[in-house]
Amino acid sequence: MTSAVRQIGLSAPWLDEREEELVLDVLRSGRLSLGPTIDRFEELVAEAVGAPYAAAVSSGTAGLHLLCVSAGVGPGDEVITSPYSFVASANCAIYEGATPVFADIDPRTLNLDPAAVEVALTPRTRAVVAVDIYGYPCELDELRAICDRHGLALIDDACEALGARYKGEPVGSRDAPAVFAFYPNKQITTGEGGMVTTHSEDEWRLLKSLRNQGRADGGGWLDHARLGFNYRIDDIRAAIGIGQLEKLDRILEARAAVAARYGQLLADIEGVELPLADDADHERSWFVYVVALPEGTDREAVITVLEERGVQTARYLPCIHLQSYMRERFGFSEGLCPVAEGLSRRTLALPFHARLDESDQEYVAAALREALGR
Ligand SMILES: Cc1ncc(COP(=O)(O)O)c(C=O)c1O
Repeated sequence: MTSAVRQIGLSAPWLDEREEELVLDVLRSGRLSLGPTIDRFEELVAEAVGAPYAAAVSSGTAGLHLLCVSAGVGPGDEVITSPYSFVASANCAIYEGATPVFADIDPRTLNLDPAAVEVALTPRTRAVVAVDIYGYPCELDELRAICDRHGLALIDDACEALGARYKGEPVGSRDAPAVFAFYPNKQITTGEGGMVTTHSEDEWRLLKSLRNQGRADGGGWLDHARLGFNYRIDDIRAAIGIGQLEKLDRILEARAAVAARYGQLLADIEGVELPLADDADHERSWFVYVVALPEGTDREAVITVLEERGVQTARYLPCIHLQSYMRERFGFSEGLCPVAEGLSRRTLALPFHARLDESDQEYVAAALREALGR
């Protein structure tokens, strides 16, 4: 416990009377699951990301799992993904009995390096799960070309990237199916929840069946056409999501402004590397604000000083392949992805959300400067 007066949390959702009103409408309607609020939420997300079809699910992880099922991933297959991501990007393949293969990242974007993906290919490769880490769009065209050349499925783990744009178009609008997540630290939240977007009507129908215990379109409640899951979202959460989407533009704008302010406040702290700026092809949707501390910094000591000042931070992101269960099950160890490993030892997430106060940001910057002795 810390005795600091000021407490600045890592993240916070932006919820107001609108979500309360929409949730109350659902409660009063009596349609708590498989109701019209879910359909509406799906239509609105599809519209926001420029995809023709969307299927709401209980989490981003569930969505990734369903896309692995849809891609036919199974035992004996390999699925290439990024080591610098949240574990779900790899777990989705393991659920179907496949082996995750980690290709190293580009040190600038922190996303999969297409050249490393090429090197990681084997005759057993079945799919690539690309990740838009920290809301920065991945190299979708290059990855698509690799997948097309080798007959692989491409899945876009856009769980952190709602609102991001790649080559001028929203992430999700290209033909790769994408997954968005709505945990409370995300750009929009439903509490728990996720959304899969796809450009294939057949895939969309399959996803809706798989999330609903394998029930088929038009079948009875106890008719199950395939092995499915209970990965449904409910109408209460969909209502929260609709309220969130109504203010998505404001949320994204506010998050970008908070990020820009951090950029100014932290620019002159020697050796601290700030998040990569946008360019013509990549427009980030701000999810978290992660800096890389100077090489050789004792990150734990920095975290301790910040904690003493009441500033919450997080060690985003540990490499997936170095998690204990991954080492034990697949024998991964240090040295597999040197770029990701080197960065992951020195990256740190600072408090970040749409309504973070300017004075709180100044306080965080001062605390970081002090922690680094700059
Ligand atoms: C990159 C990435 N993939 C997948 C997920 C999983 O989403 P959820 O927590 O909704 O299952 C997350 C969210 O934490 C994520 O950040």
